[in-house]
Amino acid sequence: MIQPAASPPSAASLPGAAAARIRWLAAPTSAAWLEQAIARPDLLLIDHAHCERKAAGVALQLMFRYPGDDALAAVLSPLAREELEHFELVLALMACRGIALRPLQASPYGAELTRAVRREEPGRMLDSFLVAGLIEARSHERMALLAEHAPDPELRRLYGELLASEARHFGLYWVLCEQRWPRALVMERLGQLAALEVQALLAAQPADGTVRFHSAGVVQDAVASS
Ligand SMILES: [Fe+2]
Ligand SMILES: [Fe+2]
Repeated sequence: MIQPAASPPSAASLPGAAAARIRWLAAPTSAAWLEQAIARPDLLLIDHAHCERKAAGVALQLMFRYPGDDALAAVLSPLAREELEHFELVLALMACRGIALRPLQASPYGAELTRAVRREEPGRMLDSFLVAGLIEARSHERMALLAEHAPDPELRRLYGELLASEARHFGLYWVLCEQRWPRALVMERLGQLAALEVQALLAAQPADGTVRFHSAGVVQDAVASS
């Protein structure tokens, strides 16, 4: 059962992985993803930097798509700035460690979710907010896992510092939806897109077979019962 993030997400331990339970998500991340992510910290940092920049890009894209919507700009402009601050924070840590930013083949997750966005308004706007919120929610969930389980204390601190803002980000997208559409309609579409988000994640194996922030790895039992 998917619920809106009206309050901060709660974390609960699951067998096999101390997985964070995020209310938007239809299935939690698996221990297998966490193991892969912990094994490739440098790769994950590079991917993380790309994710932060993409999150800023999504917020900017929405501002360009709806240029006369000042209420939207009031929310998305600070959000885009904050994502770029995160990008810079990750870059700074990478520089300290001698890790260069390089292009990475993205997992198909984001493209798959974008395909689910309806083309006609107002469905397009609602879906765009919900998809952006779901991606934020998944990022938050996985950062929470790394903040708790990464063996490297500096990485635990980095992910821990970013958690609060990422939780706020999916809350912001939820509020944008709630201000514009009836709650029941938002909930219904969120349920559909959250199920798709899990399917997109299950299929999101990068071509090089390694790990990404949004690569495959969810608890299968939870998928079956969701
Ligand atoms: Fe961020
Ligand atoms: Fe974010």
